[in-house]
Amino acid sequence: MKLGFVGAGAITEAMVTGLLTAPPLAGEVVVSPRNAEVAGRLAERFAAVRIARDNQAVVDASDVLVLAIRPQVAQEVVRALRFRQGQTVISVIAATDRGRLLDWIDQDVRLTQAIPLPFVADRNGVTAIYPPDPQAAAIFSGLGTAVECATREEYDLLAVASALMGTYFGILDRTTGWLAEKGIPADKARAYLTPLFASLAETAVRSHASLEDIRREFSTKGGLNEQVFDDFDRNGGSKALADALARVLLRIQS
Ligand SMILES: NC(=O)c1ccc[n+]([C@@H]2O[C@H](COP(=O)([O-])OP(=O)(O)OC[C@H]3O[C@@H](n4cnc5c(N)ncnc54)[C@H](OP(=O)(O)O)[C@@H]3O)[C@@H](O)[C@H]2O)c1
Repeated sequence: MKLGFVGAGAITEAMVTGLLTAPPLAGEVVVSPRNAEVAGRLAERFAAVRIARDNQAVVDASDVLVLAIRPQVAQEVVRALRFRQGQTVISVIAATDRGRLLDWIDQDVRLTQAIPLPFVADRNGVTAIYPPDPQAAAIFSGLGTAVECATREEYDLLAVASALMGTYFGILDRTTGWLAEKGIPADKARAYLTPLFASLAETAVRSHASLEDIRREFSTKGGLNEQVFDDFDRNGGSKALADALARVLLRIQS
């Protein structure tokens, strides 16, 4: 299978790295010449990467084409390309819905949208895709796990959830800062907190219990964990979280 990427930026670099690190998951990868630095780095690192002459040459050479450009230039770039009937196209372009993409593509292609995350570089990324598509699911399953969304609403909601990454690190940062203020060196606080959070995430991934039950399991009745969550909830933490998610949903659907 020949995979092509129009737009050689951060997410293309992550996906191609995940796809071609040994043992490789793809035979040949064609990337657009822009950005030259990323395309050059990928071609230098992986023998299977070829830099195409231009965007159209990427489309022509690809069995599966990934559109990985920013939303601001998407219309101009996509409208200028000629696609093949039945070609598989995966768009990772944020905030650009399927209807608009199909209008710009103006050909009967098999279009899937996906939200890959940087962890695909280590084959450890969870990727939401819409609509379900066996070829796209196989690619993203190789790069971690794929979650196939049955409806656009489901897909939009997972896109909202993907906006929590900054908050995850923000909680780590704020807690480390508070601990440092109270007198522990920040690097020691970090050395404690980051594996703690990693273990908690692992527990949630592995367990089949409800998240509420896991929370209770990790919160002794009348204990400190219960106290912190109750304070967080009572002081508006849960509401602030729900409001922030709702605002992201509005932005995604506008
Ligand atoms: N990064 C992520 O984790 C992530 C995750 C999911 C989805 N996405 C989405 O994926 C898309 C790409 O994101 P990114 O983070 O990879 O952005 P990025 O690093 O800015 O990459 C975009 C690439 O597109 C290139 N480009 C600009 N105009 C072009 C044109 N006319 N033809 C071909 N290539 C062109 C840019 O080149 P120049 O540098 O020369 O401008 C740049 O290399 C965005 O829509 C983003 O929302 C990103």
